[in-house]
Parts: sequence; structure tokens; C-alpha cells
Amino acid sequence: MSSHLDNIPSTPGKFKMDKSPYRLRHSSYFSLAKLTFWSVVFLGIILIFFFHSPSSSPLPSDPSRRSLRTSNWGGPAWEKRVRSSAKPRSRNGFSVLVTGAAGFVGTHVSAALKRRGDGVLGLDNFNDYYDPSLKRARQALLERSGIFIVEGDLNDADLLIKLFEVVTFTHVMHLAAQAGVRYAMENPMSYVHSNIAGLVSLLEVCKAANPQPAIVWASSSSVYGLNTQVPFSETHRTDQPASLYAATKKAGEEIAHTYNHIYGLSLTGLRFFTVYGPWGRPDMAYFFFTRDMLKGKPIQIFEGPNHGTVARDFTFIDDIVKGCLGALDTAEKSTGSGGKKKGPAQLRVFNLGNTSPVPVSDLVSILERLLKVKAKKMIMKMPRNGDVQFTHANISYAQREFEYKPTTDLQTGLKKFVRWYLTYYGEKKSAV
Ligand SMILES: NC(=O)c1ccc[n+]([C@@H]2O[C@H](COP(=O)([O-])OP(=O)(O)OC[C@H]3O[C@@H](n4cnc5c(N)ncnc54)[C@H](O)[C@@H]3O)[C@@H](O)[C@H]2O)c1
Repeated sequence: MSSHLDNIPSTPGKFKMDKSPYRLRHSSYFSLAKLTFWSVVFLGIILIFFFHSPSSSPLPSDPSRRSLRTSNWGGPAWEKRVRSSAKPRSRNGFSVLVTGAAGFVGTHVSAALKRRGDGVLGLDNFNDYYDPSLKRARQALLERSGIFIVEGDLNDADLLIKLFEVVTFTHVMHLAAQAGVRYAMENPMSYVHSNIAGLVSLLEVCKAANPQPAIVWASSSSVYGLNTQVPFSETHRTDQPASLYAATKKAGEEIAHTYNHIYGLSLTGLRFFTVYGPWGRPDMAYFFFTRDMLKGKPIQIFEGPNHGTVARDFTFIDDIVKGCLGALDTAEKSTGSGGKKKGPAQLRVFNLGNTSPVPVSDLVSILERLLKVKAKKMIMKMPRNGDVQFTHANISYAQREFEYKPTTDLQTGLKKFVRWYLTYYGEKKSAV
């Protein structure tokens, strides 16, 4: 009995030839038809691939890329605004390019610099990682004190070059980044785009500038990753990131080392520990707990293995701002110019935390008191999506170098946040 199994060669690679010319012609006819059929299918797939709409892409779209195309800059009036915003009030004042100026930390740092007489020019791509209307409101706030935020992307090298042509920046306060630990599983490329490519794009322009600016930039406490030694010190290992966000910040620290080593750029990295406060970020727990508690929605509180406490070294925004200014004030000049190193330059990394970790359950109790609302708590196991169980900063290095000393406890800081939140979103006035 013959079966289809008969056509399979007994020895792999050897095929029994059918000598009949008719069968040969017949089979080549079918092969040709098959080939034509599959070529059409293949061509179809290629066409679909090229002409499909972006919304049907299996890859997540990168919000910061979208804004790269929308940036609109240039012209004499624009240059005048840029120059006037970056001009310090006094002769010794700094002229600072603040990237991520429409962000939470960027807005506060820009306002503080301007208040003390420095010139500030902002740069932000206003991406929609979280509600862009909050970024626009921060922009309006800064505009009232004479700060212009240029709308553009870090990766727009032509724009960066133009900004450095128009203004001789003494300092760059680099805060623009794709923030958030969990979002990295949804849109990993946005982290590569802003935190790696964007950083290199900025450093390339800074290295070529003449004179080169001194650069202070935001790294993150998340670089400590799976490190278990506490409190976290700058000397501890940071080679076990628990999220892509942390990995891109760690990469940033290594990239900073390279640009310092080759081009003489003065670089200071700041590892912020869970910053909170007015004008904060809606993707952070203290912010969305407040929103959901006011709406009567349940909130998820994570616990570690064996019911372990999840705690954070929450740091109030005003303390972070003092740390940023301290780092800028003690930053030495870059030593290179026009892309050439002339001598060794300063390279530093500081922890900026509060040094008193608070369990997330305590954060919720404080919010309950301030909002006069009982939280509907859902206790859940912490998912493995990049968060770590505990953060605690050792800040003695920043204390030594620029007398960094946080002064706001969580209770006081949250009170200020909640007051802002209720005013901004016009919620229940009876709370606080
Ligand atoms: N807030 C925290 O708790 C915390 C903790 C550790 C580190 N950090 C770091 O501090 C910095 C500021 O954080 P934040 O809380 O103000 O975040 P944020 O998201 O509010 O601010 C970042 C700003 O950068 C902008 N931006 C992002 N990618 C850009 C790009 N490619 N080009 C131009 N602009 C771009 C965004 O539009 C945003 O306004 C970030 O580098 C962040 O990673 C923050």
C-alpha cells in the first residue's frame, strides 16, 4: 500500500527521481503556479507592511517622536524671545538651558533659578505620557515670570545647535526624560529615544559648544535596583537595574563618564528619590491615590513577599530644588572647547533623598486625614514590573559638597500637595 509517506526520502537529502517526462512537465507547471501564487502573497504582505496605518502597528507608538515632527521654531522674533528668556539679571548670573522645563521638577527648578536672577530657557516636547494640559498650565505659570519654553525634542540636533548659537549657556539643567518605571513595559522605545538617544544628542551639542556649559542632569534612585544594602550610598553597586527605566538612567551615568573623559565636559548626575509636591506627576502613587480617593474609587496598595512593607524615601520638591541649585552652584567649568578636551573635568553623582523611608500604607493614612476620605484599599502583591520594595538615601556626600539638607517631612509636604491639587482641580473645598 502506498501513502504520502512514500515520497519522503529514506536518506535525508536524497530524493528518488521520477523519470517520466510528462510528470516532470506537470510538476514544473505546478511549481511555477505555486511560485507565482506565493510571490503574489509575499508581495501583498510587503505592501500591507508599508501602507498600514500607524494605529494598527503592533509596536507601541512613541509619543515623543510625534512631537519631534510638530516642533516649530526659528525666525528673528523667536530668537529674540530665546535671548531675552536666557539673559540673567546680574552680570554674574547663570544662563541655564533647562530641558524638561514643562515637567514637574523642571518647572520648579526653572522658577527658582529665575527668582534668584539667573536666565532660564526651557525646552520640552510636551509629549502625552501624561495629561499635556498639565504641562501647558506649568508653561503658562513660567511664562508669567518671563521664562520661554521652546517646544522641541532633545533629538532635534538642528534645534539644539541653533539654541547654542543664539545663547552662550553657562549651564544645562537636563531634566527631560521618559520617566516612570511601569510604562517601560508598554513603550520601551520611548525610554531609548529620550533617555539614551536624547541624552547623547544633547551632549554632542554641549561638547561642540564654545565655551562648553557645565551640565547637571537627573539620574534616578532606581539605578540601585536589586541592591539590598541600605541606606543607598553612591558607592554601592548599581549594575542590577530592575526596570528598563533604571537601565537607561544607569546607561546615562556611563555615557556621562564617557563625555567627561573624552571631551572634558563637567557633568553632575543627581539620583532623585521619589519626588512629590504641588504640580506633581499624575502617574505617581501619591497623585493618583488622591485622585481616586476623592472619586471614591478603590486604590491598590502593594506589599512585598511575606507581607513585607513597601516603603519609599519620599522627597519634597522644594528640597529637590535646593539640591539642584546646590549642584549647579558647585559645578566647575567644563575644560574643553569646540569638541576638544583641554584637561580633566569634574564628574559627580549625588543622591538627593529625604533619608526617612515611609511605608506606602502611612502615605495613604496621611492622605485620608488630609482629604477627609476613607480609602478603599486593595492590598495586592507587588507585581514584577520594575518597582523595588524599598528606597532609602544616604545623602552625606551632597551634605558635604553643597550642604544639602532636606527639611520637609511627608505630612507637611503632602499638605501642600493636597492644597494645590484641590485648587487646581477645583475639588471638595472642605478637605485639608
Ligand atoms: N519625579 C521623580 O520622582 C523622579 C525620580 C527620579 C528621577 N527623576 C528624573 O527627574 C527628571 C524630571 O522628572 P519629572 O518628575 O519632572 O518628570 P516629567 O515627566 O514631569 O518631566 C519630564 C519632561 O521632559 C519632557 N520630555 C521627555 N522626553 C523629551 C524629549 N525627548 N525631548 C524634550 N522633552 C522631553 C516631558 O514632556 C516632560 O515635560 C527626569 O529625568 C526623571 O527621570 C524623577
